[in-house]
Amino acid sequence: MTAELPADLRAGLETEAARAPEERLAQSVSRLIEAYRSGKPASVPILTSSTDVLAYAAYRMPATFAAVRAALGQIAGAYSDFSPRSHLDIGGGTGAAVWAAADAYPGLSDISVRDQVADALTFGARLTGKANNPALRKAMWDQWHASTSAGLPRADLVTVSYVLGELPAQAQAALLAQVIPAAAGLLLVIEPGTPAGYERVLRARQAMLDLGLTIVAPCPHQNACPLSTTPGDWCHFAARVNRSAVHRRLKNAQLGHEDEKFSFIAGAPSPTLQQPGGRVLRHPQFRKGMVTMQLCRAAGDVQLQIISKKEGTLYRAARDVEWGDAWPPPGA
Ligand SMILES: C[S@@+](CC[C@H](N)C(=O)[O-])C[C@H]1O[C@@H](n2cnc3c(N)ncnc32)[C@H](O)[C@@H]1O
Repeated sequence: MTAELPADLRAGLETEAARAPEERLAQSVSRLIEAYRSGKPASVPILTSSTDVLAYAAYRMPATFAAVRAALGQIAGAYSDFSPRSHLDIGGGTGAAVWAAADAYPGLSDISVRDQVADALTFGARLTGKANNPALRKAMWDQWHASTSAGLPRADLVTVSYVLGELPAQAQAALLAQVIPAAAGLLLVIEPGTPAGYERVLRARQAMLDLGLTIVAPCPHQNACPLSTTPGDWCHFAARVNRSAVHRRLKNAQLGHEDEKFSFIAGAPSPTLQQPGGRVLRHPQFRKGMVTMQLCRAAGDVQLQIISKKEGTLYRAARDVEWGDAWPPPGA
């Protein structure tokens, strides 16, 4: 799916990016790409200056926004009753997840972001200060470190977006132990769609199950992940992001878009679910008169499903199916 940035977020990012010389931003982008690619937990914050924060916002925030927005789309399909009023974004950085949640849930009125990096919070607050949505404009931005022992306030929606990978394994477990009880309605944990990101998501999934949450998405079941025993395979999805001109220049990229790969897990304390029969795990293959899709199924297994032209209405629906969609479509 393509997740379009809200116009006010796009405009805000462009205005902000114009504040610093592009050469300095591009240097920061190169350093940040290196740091995130290394996949090592960070012993000190990766965002070390206001230029880093600006660079992160310009080249990563559109992608993390798109990933969170796509995950919330899957969640809405399985848990349509969920309409949060409060949102707590942990390790929220410049606030991509609060923009995505506000886009998905217009009823949000009480939004709070916590992060260790003061510059990221200041930047995020400046950006939401110009948002069209009044709930975003009055969001709270608080400096906070994951090692803090004080409990977190409860919120209907809690998000932990692209954070676990910056923490050592023990600190990841400790953070999950804090955020799971804080999620009054739903907890979303999202990571890069790499094998390592998927491993962290698997551990988060197990922690959610151990503490009594029900898995809402992407899995259409509560069993062990069938891909965890498939060598070389891992559960992940892709969200298409249209790149702005400055985004392209900072990444020295030619294409007008990029596909952000992400892995995620969402759990809820007591949801009323409409879980699908299956979830499409890869780009479906379209051949003449035939659509082939790899499905994670409610039975807890993975199977190839072929829908042929003979299946009429179902085939017509299959021609529109995308990676990450529920299958069969509701009502089919
Ligand atoms: C890759 S950024 C993700 C930012 C944002 N959630 C997003 O999706 O764009 C990781 C964020 O986690 C924060 N973070 C990492 N370790 C942290 C810790 N121990 N305590 C608080 N925040 C932390 C960083 O400061 C950074 O803003």
